Amino acid sequence: MEIKLDTISSWAKRKGFVYPGSEIYGGLGNAWDFGPYGIELKNNIRDLWWKEFVHKRQDIIALDTQILMNKKVWQASGHVAGFNDPLMDCKKCKNRFRADKLIEEYINKSNDSQVPKNWAGEGTPTENLSEYIIEKNIICPKCGALDYTEIRKFNLMFKTHQGVIDNDENLVYLRPETCQGIFVDYKNILNTMRVRVPFGIAQVGKAFRNEITPGQFIYRQREFEQMEIEYFVHPDDAKDSYEYWKDEFYKWWTDILGIDKEKIEARELPKEEAAHYSDCTHDFEYKFPWAWGEIQALNNRTDYDLKNHQKHSGVDMQYSDPKTGFRYIPYVIESSIGLNRTAFVVMANYYNEEKYIDPKGNEQNRIVIKFPFNIAPIKYAILPLMEKNQEMLDKGKEFFEKLSDKYVCEFDKSGNIGKRYRRQDEIGTPYCITIDNQTLQDQTVTIRDRDTMQQKRIKIDELL
Ligand code: GLY
Repeated sequence: MEIKLDTISSWAKRKGFVYPGSEIYGGLGNAWDFGPYGIELKNNIRDLWWKEFVHKRQDIIALDTQILMNKKVWQASGHVAGFNDPLMDCKKCKNRFRADKLIEEYINKSNDSQVPKNWAGEGTPTENLSEYIIEKNIICPKCGALDYTEIRKFNLMFKTHQGVIDNDENLVYLRPETCQGIFVDYKNILNTMRVRVPFGIAQVGKAFRNEITPGQFIYRQREFEQMEIEYFVHPDDAKDSYEYWKDEFYKWWTDILGIDKEKIEARELPKEEAAHYSDCTHDFEYKFPWAWGEIQALNNRTDYDLKNHQKHSGVDMQYSDPKTGFRYIPYVIESSIGLNRTAFVVMANYYNEEKYIDPKGNEQNRIVIKFPFNIAPIKYAILPLMEKNQEMLDKGKEFFEKLSDKYVCEFDKSGNIGKRYRRQDEIGTPYCITIDNQTLQDQTVTIRDRDTMQQKRIKIDELL
């Protein structure tokens, strides 16, 4: 079965997972809202990550820092100078393009073996990009002209002003990555928490990037959530730690989220494609039904950030080894995961359309989302068979109250039972529990398994 991007996005909207942002006003470029089931799904993923990497570990603690930070943070981090996209306009049709993306598409299509696939990355000078575009005759994809403006670097940080006066003094940026809050608070952590290198600091929060080419549903949004860990190590241990985290995160995708192993790969990025702060980067990629896409970056950020914050703030960022007294600035191994993107991976991975034979022997189609239990937005649907039977409704409500103390449940009393099952299949509810006449006689219910569609009769007490 071929699943297209549209299949997922229209299912997500129809079923209350993701709505277009500001829709009644015609939307806003790539803004998406998580609907009632989407937010449960996203929170479940976030909580699993938190449990795995914060609660279950003795060497990682968490923080929640502000979106708005002193603008000097972004000067020190290199984002003011270096967090840019190379943009150019077609002089004929006036459309604006990312030069690196046009080159990337050209290289991918033409199989130009002279040039590495990711040649047009962050580190490639704009003159080289311009020359390459002319030399290879990379025409405007909209109108076919080869007449572009000079390439300009466009900074991706959103700007605003703190306070009532809109001047440079009051300029602040919406953070483009959560990790700078971690680096800036690193000294507070050293001074107040009993941590010893190696240790990590984790954070989940919003980040903002004024991408010129957002797109592909919730894959690339200008406002998104990150789950980041900055892991501080002795410089001599950085390589081993990097390998360790590569293995751990492979397990996060395949064992914890249950993503198919053949759909996850960690790809080492060539230097030109890596971010300005990274000495070594692996992108974890997921094989969406339409293309491979990056879903996590693992970076060796060396001592780049702490050294720069030391230089710009004048605060000593060295760590003093309690055993040897040796003082040094730790290296940082970073894991950066997009939470919205992970929700998208999970939706794409577990979306299924399949045929089945109904009780009358007819072939039917169903959409069934095979979320694992720990990710599913709703764990149990409680379905009194007959809406008009008050005793059945009361029993169902009583049962709902008990079960929803532990699990997210849904109570659905109206409509044909087959349709109610289908509805739950389409939002990925693992189990439907039906309250029927027999329940009133012997305190048993039927429990239906989403994937096998088999039903079992079981005592309520046993189920609870
Ligand atoms: N902190 C790394 C990133 O946001 O990509």
